[in-house]
Amino acid sequence: MHSILIIGCGSIGERHLRCFQQSGRCTVSVCDANAKLLGEVSQRYNATAYASLSEAVQAQHFDAWVICTPAHTHLTIAREGAAHGAALLIEKPLSVTLDGIEETRTAITSSDRFVAIAYVYHCFPWIIAAREFLQTGALGKPLHASVVAGQHFPTFRPAYRDIYYARHETGGGAIQDALTHIVNAMEWMIGPTTRVFCDASHQHLEGVTVEDTVNVTARHGTVLASYAMTQFQAANEAIFEIHCEHGSQKIESHAQRWATMKHGETAWTWHTTPPLERDDLFIAQANSFLDGMEGKPCNLSTFEEAVQTLRFNRAALDSAATGLPITLS
Ligand SMILES: NC(=O)c1ccc[n+]([C@@H]2O[C@H](COP(=O)([O-])OP(=O)(O)OC[C@H]3O[C@@H](n4cnc5c(N)ncnc54)[C@H](O)[C@@H]3O)[C@@H](O)[C@H]2O)c1
Repeated sequence: MHSILIIGCGSIGERHLRCFQQSGRCTVSVCDANAKLLGEVSQRYNATAYASLSEAVQAQHFDAWVICTPAHTHLTIAREGAAHGAALLIEKPLSVTLDGIEETRTAITSSDRFVAIAYVYHCFPWIIAAREFLQTGALGKPLHASVVAGQHFPTFRPAYRDIYYARHETGGGAIQDALTHIVNAMEWMIGPTTRVFCDASHQHLEGVTVEDTVNVTARHGTVLASYAMTQFQAANEAIFEIHCEHGSQKIESHAQRWATMKHGETAWTWHTTPPLERDDLFIAQANSFLDGMEGKPCNLSTFEEAVQTLRFNRAALDSAATGLPITLS
């Protein structure tokens, strides 16, 4: 049994606690600076609770840390985890700036423990299958990609005004909070973004001023791409299209299905996965992480892939602020 410490048992930390327990492969302890929340969550799942990270590490060694605090704290905690000799699963986005990346890279290299970033789209069966199909080359080279995505954020996260989401400095706004998942998934499928031109604005969400609406024109090397997202729309949807030399691929993430259409065909051929609950995807992520710790093959986002997506996040924010396109070297 692996010993796992969840750091921060807010919205996503509680889900990780539950889903790591569901794997049946580890014991899970938890710490949080909020004593009331810690008490409630640890009781609900019968988990050992620590009032702080330092109290937890004084009490015992943990094989892995799952970092579920707001993004501006991730790298500092990751370096502490590396010094502790723990494997690390770090929530997205990796950070809010590139400060501390080099030191963190050095720390995790010398600790020689498994590290992954919790970009959970890497565990969506329809994304994995579409990516694998794309990599067979059956459709030829990707040439153009687009994503239209969004949801009614207040429905899914009613507390949005009072959490990290309200400020860029703590990882908030549509770019760092939601678009980052989509772009990381697309980078996993067609390679890193190399150019970003972003328009973003606060259009509708009450009680915050960060952007809730984003349009991006990008390049992933030779692939032209566009992203459109709102966080006030009625439909909770994410539709990816990738058009290649010999045909097209489409993913409807909300419908848990993907399709192809070759030149000459007139209808999509759909592949639908058996219905999965949200927790199923996080249980899959927990199992992938435990596999990675055990040296088995693992699909999760690497540290370097998450650094690349962080560079996208920064470029998108800078482009939106200046009105200028940004080239990522
Ligand atoms: N993968 C996903 O689908 C997904 C979903 C939601 C959030 N997230 C990410 O997870 C992170 C946390 O988001 P959340 O929604 O759970 O936030 P949250 O505000 O609900 O919870 C964060 C918790 O961390 C605790 N905390 C902060 N600093 C701490 C410290 N130094 N030591 C111990 N506890 C500390 C807070 O008390 C709080 O309870 C963010 O980076 C966010 O982007 C990912």
